[in-house]
Amino acid sequence: MKAEPVNFHFHDLHPATEDFHAQVIAGLSQQTKRLPPKFFYDERGSQLFDAITRLPEYYPTRTEIDLLQRHGADMAEMLGNDGLLFELGSGSDIKIRVLLDALQLQTYAPIDISREPLRLSAGAIAEDHPQLEVHAICTDYSKPIDLPGVFDDERRLAFFPGSSIGNFDPLQACNFLRRIAKLLGPDGRLLIGVDLKKAPARLHAAYNDRQGVTAQFNLNLLTRINRELDADFDLEAFRHMAFYNEKLGRIEMHLLAAEPQHVRVDGCCFDFMAGESIHTENSYKYSIEEFQALAAQAGLASLRVWQDDDALFSVHCLKPV
Ligand code: AVJ
Repeated sequence: MKAEPVNFHFHDLHPATEDFHAQVIAGLSQQTKRLPPKFFYDERGSQLFDAITRLPEYYPTRTEIDLLQRHGADMAEMLGNDGLLFELGSGSDIKIRVLLDALQLQTYAPIDISREPLRLSAGAIAEDHPQLEVHAICTDYSKPIDLPGVFDDERRLAFFPGSSIGNFDPLQACNFLRRIAKLLGPDGRLLIGVDLKKAPARLHAAYNDRQGVTAQFNLNLLTRINRELDADFDLEAFRHMAFYNEKLGRIEMHLLAAEPQHVRVDGCCFDFMAGESIHTENSYKYSIEEFQALAAQAGLASLRVWQDDDALFSVHCLKPV
């Protein structure tokens, strides 16, 4: 293995396996079975998500990257050109590379639950930006973060790309944004990508791709549970299902048992009726006004918003009020 560059620091605050175990048992024990989407991202899941971002039907990633490339200078001006930038759920590094080229930062602190992909992409960024201090933090950003004391004096910015905010329901999203506002402090800024409401057919296609990559991504959660939690889900018996719930303004993903199933997870039994599903993900879509109203409730005022010509995706710059 190559030595890690001197400007690279890794803080492993990774939640223990017990967390995965407890949340899977708890989620499958509910009246409506559910699993948190953050557990999609094991090594294989991260690869599959990466493949999703390149699918012809999946417009969010390429549209957001295009917005960052086109408006990077404007965004840098709105964010202010110095300080520390947290990135929440860093995943792939294309977006941050575009931003880092537009900004003059002292410190970059990517936060991600997926340890090895984080180490790889943050390490590569440290290598390519020797003047930048890179502090990678492996943790679950949906929980309060106990930050290492190294971040105390700098002005704070945050980048939350990919419309991952859509995984939270609106109340959780509001509480989450309120926590970010507090983390940033009065001089801070948040740059956040938000997928827009649009024709349901377009949304449906993005989560039901023809190559079946999204289906593999969804089903991989069961493979992971089988492997890591000594479970016996029959992968042939569950089907990917995704649809736009227009009333609630969200894509819902489920894993549907076509036939009755009896599954054991580490000694616990779970029964599925024919047609019963596990709800694995919500992906909320917002109009620009809806998102601004949500942010305002969380104490974040809109400084500026960018969107593409087809109004597929938006990037908002917000500041704590
Ligand atoms: C990473 C949560 C933004 O909701 O579009 C993609 C995840 N799920 N295809 C999304 C996802 C199925 C993605 N987010």
